[in-house]
Amino acid sequence: MVERALDVCRYRLDKEKMRLETNFEPELPCLRMDDNGMTLVTLNLVDNAIKHAAEGGKVLVTLRRAPGFAVLGVRDFGPGVPREEHNRIFERFYRSQRTRERNVRGSGIGLALVRYIVEAHGGRVVLTSPVASKQDGPPGSLFEVFLPAPVAASTRPSGAQASVEAAIKS
Ligand SMILES: Nc1ncnc2c1ncn2[C@@H]1O[C@H](COP(=O)(O)OP(=O)(O)O)[C@@H](O)[C@H]1O
Ligand SMILES: [Mg+2]
Repeated sequence: MVERALDVCRYRLDKEKMRLETNFEPELPCLRMDDNGMTLVTLNLVDNAIKHAAEGGKVLVTLRRAPGFAVLGVRDFGPGVPREEHNRIFERFYRSQRTRERNVRGSGIGLALVRYIVEAHGGRVVLTSPVASKQDGPPGSLFEVFLPAPVAASTRPSGAQASVEAAIKS
């Protein structure tokens, strides 16, 4: 699903001369989710990286597992969001001071939608400002979507699956 969503973004990334990097952990847990909803989540986060952080030149999209969760990460290397606005940017219509000054198009609805969809899945979306890799480089932003996943679902077959597998072998 994430790969399909990223295909939609490639043209705009090229236009903005941004590189897309992905890092997907193997053996991710199986998730039950709304495909359209999570596609919108991915598109909105990458759209923000393009609109608000193009100068960073790169978007890094990751999928990893954490205990009890599958985690989608969208990382950019742009200006970041001031700490005191971290919670506010998830509010409907809120746009940061800097964004308003720069005349970037938008309505401030994207992250509210992201949060709504993620929470409807029982998950959480968080913004962390990573420490800049270069001493005086911009911090960038890392948005992470935590979706609850059954622990070890991909390694241990369920009862039903196990009996189907046993039936196939015999
Ligand atoms: N990747 C990012 N880098 C810097 N600022 C961001 C980023 N993503 C979101 N923001 C800030 O959060 C605000 C809200 O985001 P969003 O709800 O998607 O609205 P918008 O329509 O402005 O994209 C943006 O206006 C911007 O100020
Ligand atoms: Mg947006």
